[in-house]
Amino acid sequence: MPRCMPEPYRIKMVEPLRMTTREYRQQCLDRAHYNTFLLDADDVYIDLLTDSGTGAMSDRQWGALMQGDEAYAGSRSFEHMCESIREVMGYSLIIPTHQGRGAEHLFFQNFIQPGDILPMNMYFTTTRAHLELAGGEFRDIICDEAHDSQSDFRWKGNVDLDKLDGLVEHYGSARVRAISMAPDVNMAGGQPFSMANLREVRAYCLERGIKVFLDVTRIAENAWFIHHLEPGYEQFSIKEIIREICSYSDGAWMSSKKDGLVNMGGFLAFMPGEEELFAKCRSQVVVYEGLHTYGGMSGRDMEALAVGLREVCDDDYLSCRHSQLELLHGLLLKAGVPLVHPCGGHGVFVDAKAFLPHLDQDEFPAQALAAEIYLEGGVRGMERGNVSADRDPVTGRNRRPRLELVRLTIPRRVYTESHLEYVAETVIEVFARRDQIRGLKMTWEPEKLRFFQAQFEPLPAERQLSAAEGMSASAG
Ligand code: F0G
Repeated sequence: MPRCMPEPYRIKMVEPLRMTTREYRQQCLDRAHYNTFLLDADDVYIDLLTDSGTGAMSDRQWGALMQGDEAYAGSRSFEHMCESIREVMGYSLIIPTHQGRGAEHLFFQNFIQPGDILPMNMYFTTTRAHLELAGGEFRDIICDEAHDSQSDFRWKGNVDLDKLDGLVEHYGSARVRAISMAPDVNMAGGQPFSMANLREVRAYCLERGIKVFLDVTRIAENAWFIHHLEPGYEQFSIKEIIREICSYSDGAWMSSKKDGLVNMGGFLAFMPGEEELFAKCRSQVVVYEGLHTYGGMSGRDMEALAVGLREVCDDDYLSCRHSQLELLHGLLLKAGVPLVHPCGGHGVFVDAKAFLPHLDQDEFPAQALAAEIYLEGGVRGMERGNVSADRDPVTGRNRRPRLELVRLTIPRRVYTESHLEYVAETVIEVFARRDQIRGLKMTWEPEKLRFFQAQFEPLPAERQLSAAEGMSASAG
């Protein structure tokens, strides 16, 4: 019996992978300054860096590419993309962008006023960066369980209404003019919210004139959890659940590179009633992205997205994807590797603090662990912890978030069960020699979103930096 649900598709085209030696990978790691983002993809065997733009398109999507209308203005492909977004999500006012952060940029520049407070169910890196660039401030209103890797609560993406109410009481709805919720919360380990929670949040916000905006990047994966695990929702299709989620919002942005099942693209979309904000964003898209009927996407990409958004609503596809995640989660769990529980919607997240308890958080355990996993077997994951959280703009210190994780992100429709078994074996090998793993010192960092480009070197074997030293050493 297969341990994964068999894939509801078969392979039509293959892409060769290359295994390397450990010595070679050590050289690659040195050249990449111990940052997996700085490795060449050719030097990676199994690439679990991200699920963003790394999925495989279907034959229908490749067929649709050929029908792309590359007209500069008024492209037919734009209409096709809008029809699909309307059908699947119900948004009618749509602005295409080159990817998710292009949509975030337009949204925050036009919606946020300096001093605004934006509560969110945890942060995402690019979202918070754009919010702060526009003069707004992020506040975390996710439930406490989300910050505890060992909590088995199924709806860790839920908003804690008391936290939201506390902020509204404190700042007033003049400063808390909106909240933002993301399905399948990325930084929490791919954790979903429940429909019941979203409905409650919407009712609370409606009473006070507070808007609700969604980051619908991984909405289908969240809808899968609702369909299978939330009482009353088994009779609704994934598409119906997505429509209901979106119906509780005033607008949304999406990185289509995830649940859009495409390699590039994004959009900003609003419900009727948001014509004014839509018009402001639409007049700005031409400055930063492209004309409002392509916004940084080619016609063929818009055609592929139109197909991808419908395909992602297939319960068989989503169930198979989830069973792949459960397979990897289960194999690691059996070997005692500390993980985020329960298994999330787009990746398996290793708890690096528990994996490497001898390292201080300012010795970047998750960054060090991601490097070791690469060294061991050519498997590339990424850090989601102290590096990703950036520095506190007021104190200049590392934020030291409670979750210090390595994300093993599963690309959509790309890897097989045996690839995932290989990944599990690699991580388990590293776990067996965890005591010998050294921390890292950050030798260079950019000002924002440092995890993409920061550089590190291993700390000397005989001495780990103390927390205080770690902070000053990485300040340069
Ligand atoms: N929102 C969420 C929840 C995301 O996960 C991402 C990207 C974005 C917005 C930004 O979209 O990359 O298209 O500009 N996440 C990628 C990741 C980078 O690896 O998690 P983008």
